Amino acid sequence: MSINVAIDGPAGAGKSTIARRVAAEKGFIYVDTGAMFRAIGLYMLRNGIDLEDKEALERECQKAEVTICYKDGEQNVILNGENVSGLIRTPEVGDAASKVSVNGVVRERLLYLQRELASTSDVVMDGRDIGTVVLPNAKPKIYLTASVEVRAMRRFKELQEKGQEAVLEEIQEQIRERDDRDMHRDIAPLKQAEDAVLVDTSDMTIEEACAAILKLIES
Ligand code: DC
Repeated sequence: MSINVAIDGPAGAGKSTIARRVAAEKGFIYVDTGAMFRAIGLYMLRNGIDLEDKEALERECQKAEVTICYKDGEQNVILNGENVSGLIRTPEVGDAASKVSVNGVVRERLLYLQRELASTSDVVMDGRDIGTVVLPNAKPKIYLTASVEVRAMRRFKELQEKGQEAVLEEIQEQIRERDDRDMHRDIAPLKQAEDAVLVDTSDMTIEEACAAILKLIES
């Protein structure tokens, strides 16, 4: 049986950086499920679909074929045959991903792919509902979080380093909005699984957070 590690938590808690490092350390595959929702979000944006239109979303998502492949150990997301990995990291696509992810038909479409990856490989999978819905038998389950202020400041610095303009208060507001949508949707909302261990990275370095999670995996 394959080993499945689940890491859930809100946007900007450091999930992807930490999950990627932990997976590399253990020789497991890192599965970024947010990237799959982002690919669907990108498809809807490109095709001018109203993200609030449930019927259109359910119809159009049948035309968006999302798959995953690994190149040099990195996850690549393929949307209808096109590698879109470099196009899905914008705030617009993140917002679209959060909006499409409230839809049960969209979630169902990606659930199969996520479970298949976990059943065939040792994985560290990150997302919002991995420990609660996608992989209820994952061990360990980690709920990775940090305060809104800390997450916003991290994102602000990231954008500054890239030379992009950013307003801290606006980033904070976007994070609050996304948390609210992800935590309060009807289907598979973001919440800590009962058997998940809470890791708050507000006052931790990436190295400290990785060490804490590796310890949980080894125990
Ligand atoms: O982790 P991320 O920022 O790349 O995720 C983008 C959005 O996708 C997030 O706001 C909610 C959604 N998502 C989800 O609903 N379930 C997951 N397992 C992963 C992401």
